[in-house]
Amino acid sequence: MVNAAYLVAGIFFILSLGGLSDQQSARRGNLYGITGMALALVATLLSDSVTHYALIAVPMVVGGALGAVVALRVQMTAMPQLVAILHSFVGLAAVLVGFTTFLNSSGHDQFTGVEQTIFEIEIYLGVLIGAVTFTGSVIAFGKLQGVIGSAPLMLPARHWLNAGLALACIYLGAVFVGAASLSDGLTPLLLMTALALLFGVHMVMAIGGADMPVVISMLNSYSGWAAAATGFMLSNDLLILTGALVGSSGAILSYIMCRAMNRRFVSVIMGGFGSVGGGTAGVAVAGETTAITAADTAELLDNANSLVIVPGYGMAVAQAQHPISELTRRLRQKKVAVTFGIHPVAGRMPGHMNVLLAEAKVPYDIVLEMEQINARLSETDVVMVVGANDIVNPSALDTPDSPIAGMPVLEVWKARNVIVLKRSMASGYAGVDNPLFFKENTSMLFGDARESIEGVLGGIG
Ligand code: TAP
Repeated sequence: MVNAAYLVAGIFFILSLGGLSDQQSARRGNLYGITGMALALVATLLSDSVTHYALIAVPMVVGGALGAVVALRVQMTAMPQLVAILHSFVGLAAVLVGFTTFLNSSGHDQFTGVEQTIFEIEIYLGVLIGAVTFTGSVIAFGKLQGVIGSAPLMLPARHWLNAGLALACIYLGAVFVGAASLSDGLTPLLLMTALALLFGVHMVMAIGGADMPVVISMLNSYSGWAAAATGFMLSNDLLILTGALVGSSGAILSYIMCRAMNRRFVSVIMGGFGSVGGGTAGVAVAGETTAITAADTAELLDNANSLVIVPGYGMAVAQAQHPISELTRRLRQKKVAVTFGIHPVAGRMPGHMNVLLAEAKVPYDIVLEMEQINARLSETDVVMVVGANDIVNPSALDTPDSPIAGMPVLEVWKARNVIVLKRSMASGYAGVDNPLFFKENTSMLFGDARESIEGVLGGIG
């Protein structure tokens, strides 16, 4: 019965992933996921492996209550940090389960020969992946929260350091598997754990701000493999299946992110991006900007035939999606063709802008991807950039030593008029100056994006 329930839960998880791959079915996808997880939990609780209900109730109630409070309170803009710290828990759990399984001698006695070796490799890999995931995710949390600077840490011999750590882990693995007794195996396991924790820190510290999207999806993938390894250690089929689903979907997402940012996956993992050519501050931009008022913006929009709105992280900060939705509705009534251009790494997590626009009930069919929008921009009357910066930075295309060089961007400067809504001349997440603000056809509408849009709404006739 438990295995049958696990199988059904697994099917729900697969349906959930399918649902989450599209905005219109995402809610259904979430529901499938919740159903699958509820089923899995009930089946596990009813299985033979749970013997002390009181013992398991305490962490479930405490952990569940903490999780609920944090999730209810978290601001949408802090969601990526929450996801990062949750990944770290999966990693830590894998490390703890690994050590517990190893130290539990009854678990040791159940195997001999090749089975014993496989069992030990499972433990070793579980702890290794878990430890890298744990510290890597904690550092990612720090970078996203702004506690740690977004500039990459460029140690002089960092590739040698990584290679040395990898070789040491392989050597310790051989010692661990060949150990004659429990106590002989504990030392290499502990040493490897320390090295893996260090590797997690170094790996994410070496990654520049603009490449954080890839790191988030990569850690997502690692957390899946850590969970799968835990499943092997605990002989729990559902955990293996779920971990493999998370691991492989995270890997696919990392690949998509790399393609979107024109990066090679291996190069991102090796670190140091965000500082290509030695430049970390990008091009120094000089020139005059043109300011525009909300009233003049309203007039421009009133007379436009087409408008493309490009949202970025600032829209999330200002929570401007609701007035933007209202502006869209009003302009469409006036027969202005309004579309949205979404960059794959806009905001701070994959799909960030799509979620916010869906929440504000912007119709899905006018929310387009970067390639679709780029093809139309030269025919567009007005582009309104709402709290976006790196994703509309022309230096990604024309400045080879820029930290964001090579990243495809929304080429908004090709439109007849560009209006940028932001509070100051500050740079974006990658810390790069933006020549767009100084272009002849660009006007700056300074202020909080929500207040600016509300001002524009007031001026629409
Ligand atoms: P950013 O380049 O970070 O720019 C956001 C801009 O919004 C800032 O320049 C800021 O300028 C403005 N802003 C902030 N609060 C505002 C407010 N209340 N009202 C109006 N404007 C406001 O954002 P982006 O263009 O969306 O690019 C995303 C960046 O984050 C990329 O570098 C990407 O690689 C990185 N990143 C993405 C992800 C994912 S998965 N999407 C994850 C991690 C990192 P002011 O301060 O002058 O207002």
